[in-house]
Order: sequence, then structure tokens, then C-alpha cells
Amino acid sequence: MREIIQRLTETYGPSGLEERIRAVIRAEVEGLADEVWVTPLGSLVAVRRSGGDGRRILVAAHMDEIGVMVSHIDEKGFLRFAGIGGVFPRNCVAARVLFENGTTGVIAVEQKADPDKPLTLQQLYIDVGATSREDCPVRVGDAAVFVRPFVAQGRRLIAKAMDDRIGCAVLIETLRRLGATPNEVHFVFSTQEEVTLAGAQTATYSIDPDIAIAVDVTGTGDTPESRPMAVELGKGPAVKVQDSWMIAHPRVRELLVAAAEAAGVPYQMEVLERGTTDAAAMQTVRAGVPSGCLSIPCRYVHTPSEIVDEEDVEGAVRVMVEALKKA
Ligand code: CO
Ligand code: ZN
Repeated sequence: MREIIQRLTETYGPSGLEERIRAVIRAEVEGLADEVWVTPLGSLVAVRRSGGDGRRILVAAHMDEIGVMVSHIDEKGFLRFAGIGGVFPRNCVAARVLFENGTTGVIAVEQKADPDKPLTLQQLYIDVGATSREDCPVRVGDAAVFVRPFVAQGRRLIAKAMDDRIGCAVLIETLRRLGATPNEVHFVFSTQEEVTLAGAQTATYSIDPDIAIAVDVTGTGDTPESRPMAVELGKGPAVKVQDSWMIAHPRVRELLVAAAEAAGVPYQMEVLERGTTDAAAMQTVRAGVPSGCLSIPCRYVHTPSEIVDEEDVEGAVRVMVEALKKA
């Protein structure tokens, strides 16, 4: 899966501008699904139909990534910006960003900023090498993503946008390996998770599933001085119990645990104190959709260098295949 993970993580696709990443994913799923369509808000849906009398299951991974958006350009051509999704000032300093038109920018800090005080986004600016507002190659409203190359180092995979291209990779591989199933499975590659969860929410309304499962990253408690959390890299995918926006439906949680045990995949239970996934929005659609989430443990979420473990990714695919083929 390394080759596809590299291609997915290195592709441009901030929330709201998912056209390029959607094309990459579409090329992967087109030959594997019975039907592929795009929702009005841009989410890609690949459907695996079945002749059986199973359930209609929606599985979702978001294809958008965090980024920055130009909010102002000064007379010397320096840019001020707003975050797209959860962008934290201390993860931005000295980062490089890439705009859709190929322009590279460097994020820098105002020299007068007090080094003893926490930074704010307002103290940062982007330098694209321009000398004036007139020769600046980007405009207000243009969006950029963080850039870093993909690296595989032993079992650890390092890249920007593992959140949630790793989930997209898991869904693509699950679709590839999923044999006969009594269920009708809708693989949703959603838009705008990092800002409003609107892509998955509206796709869920269209599909009207019996249950919904998100595949996304979660934090870990295994780094120096980290806040205690019973999730570690390399100990298997994590079954979500709760995050800051949702409680996973107990039956969906049990389905994922049973699938992990049946597939012989080690797993962890996840209680995430900060953050959420598409599942939070999917469970509130129509009369309510029992929803849960299978998480890939990930260090340094929402930084330009997110790290996952290849065995956890492989384990997640095996759990999803097992869960989806069950009657
Ligand atoms: Co995220
Ligand atoms: Zn995510």
C-alpha cells in the first residue's frame, strides 16, 4: 500500500478544494466498484452492490486536509492568512505551504513577536518571494496546504495529511480485498471534514444507510510527556468509544471489536478527549444512524509530519473487510 499512501498524502486537497485528490481516488476505485458518483458537495461515493439481503453500510474517510487561506496581501507582497481547519500557530513556523497554482510559500513570524509568549496566527505571515501586491502570484481567498515528502522508515510512515488520506488508503484497499458480501457497501470519500463535516453528513442523507463507520486518525499517548491516553502506535487500529463530539453506538463498537477478534488483529479502545470525525455528523442524519469509527493511531496530528505504523494500517484493512462481509 506504500505507493498509494505516498500518492494520496502528497496530493493537494484542502477542505473545499478536493478536485485533485478526488481524481486520484476515483482512478483507484473506478474498476473496483459497481457504481461511482459524486455528491453535490463533492464527496466521491463508490458502491459495492450485492444480491444478498444484508444491510446498507456506509463507510467514510475524508479526503480533505487542513491548510491555510490568504486573508490579506500587504503592499510588499506578504500574505496574512486564516487556518482551514485546526491549524495551530506553533506547528506553522518555518513550514512551507503549496498553493494550487504551484506557488510555494514560507510561513514566518513577525520579528517583534515576544519569544516568551504563545504565538497567535495573527503574528504569522507567508512569504512567497513577492516584492509588491501587484507581483504577488496568489490572491485573497487562495488556499495552500503544508508540504512535506512521504517517507517510509521501517514500519513507520511519515507524511503530511495522513489525516485522513491514510483512511482513504484503508478504504481503497478494503474495497479491493472485499469479496462476496450480503451487504450493500457505500464507500464515501468525504469533503470538508476538517471544517464542518458537511461532506459526510450530506452523503449520509443521500445514501440513507442502516449503519455508518468512519475511518480516521486518532491521537496517541505514547510520546514524551504526552497526556495519558491508552492508544499507542503499532498496537493495532483503535475502536472508538468516545471523542469530544460523539459516543460511538455500542452495537457498531461491538461489531468492530468482534471483527478484529475474528480476523486475529490486535486492537485498542479509543477515548479521544479532543477532536472528532465524520461519524459525529453521520449519526445525526435523518432519524439517526448508528455510527462508529475505526481509528488509525497517529502521532503529531495536524502537523506537517504525521506518523502512523504500517501494521496498524494493515490491521485496519483486515478489520474493515471482516466487518463488512458479516451478515
Ligand atoms: Co483532522
Ligand atoms: Zn481526520
